[in-house]
This record gives sequence, structure tokens and C-alpha cells, in this order.
Amino acid sequence: MRLLRKVTAMAMASMMVLSMAACGGGSSASATTAAPAETKAAEGGASGSGTIGVCIYKFDDAFMTTYRNALQEILEGKGYTVTFMDGKNDQAEQNNQINNFIAQEVDALIINPVMTSAADQIIATVKDANIPTVLINREPTADQMAAYDKLVYVGCDARQSGTMQGELILDTPNKGDINGDGVISYIMIQGDPENVDAQYRTEFSVKALTDAGLAVKELDLQRGDWDRNKGQEIAQNDLAKFGDEIEVVFCNNDDMAIGALQAIQAAERKVNEDIYLVGVDALDAALNEVVNGNMTGTVLNDAKGQAAGAVEAMEALLGGKTYAAGEQSIYVDYVKVTPENAADFQ
Ligand code: BGC
Repeated sequence: MRLLRKVTAMAMASMMVLSMAACGGGSSASATTAAPAETKAAEGGASGSGTIGVCIYKFDDAFMTTYRNALQEILEGKGYTVTFMDGKNDQAEQNNQINNFIAQEVDALIINPVMTSAADQIIATVKDANIPTVLINREPTADQMAAYDKLVYVGCDARQSGTMQGELILDTPNKGDINGDGVISYIMIQGDPENVDAQYRTEFSVKALTDAGLAVKELDLQRGDWDRNKGQEIAQNDLAKFGDEIEVVFCNNDDMAIGALQAIQAAERKVNEDIYLVGVDALDAALNEVVNGNMTGTVLNDAKGQAAGAVEAMEALLGGKTYAAGEQSIYVDYVKVTPENAADFQ
């Protein structure tokens, strides 16, 4: 069961009110002609009718594929006309896509920026076009978002996921110190370090250990850019270099952890016996490995909850809501996943 997410009963109630307001207008959006957002809101088109442009940083990302599918199901299920664009990990390409959506006068945008550093420019563009916008997955700073009150970020607080990864190691019988030398020796396989998720998971996973009074030794930290193959290569090289010294493999996401697992198995090491392995996301493949004992644990990055939250925030914006500075981040909780509860997420 997907517990703990902040898509609350209150939010559900407001969604119901919005759908009730819109139900006289029919739910098919296919014939909707482009009109400025304010007109749409005034017509009561805040739920189920309207054109939505969605920009994803790249389609070829395991977690964002799950997220994209969830968004599509919710938006189309409500009757919106939705177009998804693949940014192909290229900010210039995504900028063009945003400009095209603006030229088409979409009613709202949902944007997963390619680069967090492009946030200022993206925000200035959508503000200039007066398009209600929900940013997802890559969180800008509160100051950046304060520039536009019809903009909100829906995502997770990545610090929480890092802390949970550390706790998964603290919950093992020897608290990650397999060789009993009093020090937890680990390698860190990082996502794209430009992304705050990668920065915080790297920092807070280790902080959970040191906050518990444990000594740690970082054998290696390398960027794997969220990518399975890179996770495999980094783990393979480190296993060859450091051998049994490695007690814990921290991966900023599951796709890299699945890659690392391939290297661990090729090196004839056994997870939960002579090495620990943790990821983030709770991808199906990782949940299977947690159940089979081939991953120590993972952390649910609730794609469905975030997609629901993003649509809810978008509908609030379409209904005329504006967001005050400092109140433009809406968080969905992460959940720790162990063999005991993994089946709940499968
Ligand atoms: C996910 C990664 C994903 C990244 C994309 C993170 O929150 O954990 O799996 O690659 O977002 O930005």
C-alpha cells in the first residue's frame, strides 16, 4: 500500500470540488481550442479539459519512464489532451520544446528540467508567457521559484531518501561493519551531480551513519549519471581495486544498483553476507532483488504519488491559485523498503 504520501484527503476533496465544477462541460478535451490560461480557468475548465504540455528530461531513464506513464494515465484518465516531449538530456532541445508548447498556447506545462541550472531561464520563459507551470523531479531553489507565483515544484525531499539509505545499513546485524574493524568502508555511486537528488543522497546516506556515531571510510565516489551500465562499470572497477575492503555499495538510484549487482555477482560476492547494496526508487527490478536478498534495501521514490500531486497542483493553478514565495515546494514522502515490506510495492 502506498502510505505516507502527502496527497491528502483534503487534496482529494479539493479535486472532487474541481471535477464537480467541470462536469457540466464534458470530459473530452480533444476539440479544445487553444485559449489563454485565464480564459480556461474562468470557463471552469480546470479539471479534465485543456491541453497540457509535458517535458521530460529524457525518456530513456528508468524512473522517469515509470513517472511518465503514471502522469499519462492520470491526465488522460481525466480527459486532458496531453503531449509528452523527450528532452533527450539536452537543455537546448528542451528549451525549444517549451517554446513550441507556448506557441501552441497550451493551458499548462509540467516540466522535468534537463538541468537544474536552467531553472532561472525556464521560469522566466513560462512567466513571460503567463502559463501555469509545475516543475517536477529536479528542484530549483525557493528564491528561483519566487520569481513566478503561478509556478510550483512537486517532488520529494532528497535528504530523506539519503537518510533512509543510511538507516537501511544501520538496520543490518553488524551495522555495515562486516569485517568488524570499527569502520564502515563504502563506495558511493552517484547520479548526475548537477541534480540535487544526487547531492543530498550522497551526503545524507553517510550522515545517517556518522550521526549514529559510526566511523566511515569512503573508498571511492564516482558519478554514474543514474545509468545502469555506468553503475556496473564503476562497481566492477572498484571491486577489482578494493576487493573485500568494500562493505557497502551506496547507489543514488536503483538502476545503478542493478548494474552494481551484476558486478557484485560477477565478482562472486554475496549481498547481505559479505557486502551490502542499497538504492533509491523501488523500481520493479529492484523490488525483486530486495525480495530475493540480492539488494539490502531500497527507498520508494513514489512516482504515482508525485504524478498525482503534480496534476493536483496543476489543477489548482488552472483554477486560479497562486503560490506565495517560500511555499512553492510540495513534497511526497519517501518510504524505506526492506524484504519485510517490499511486496507491498510490487
Ligand atoms: C531518480 C533517478 C532518476 C532521476 C532523474 C531521481 O529522483 O531517483 O532514478 O534518474 O531522478 O532526474
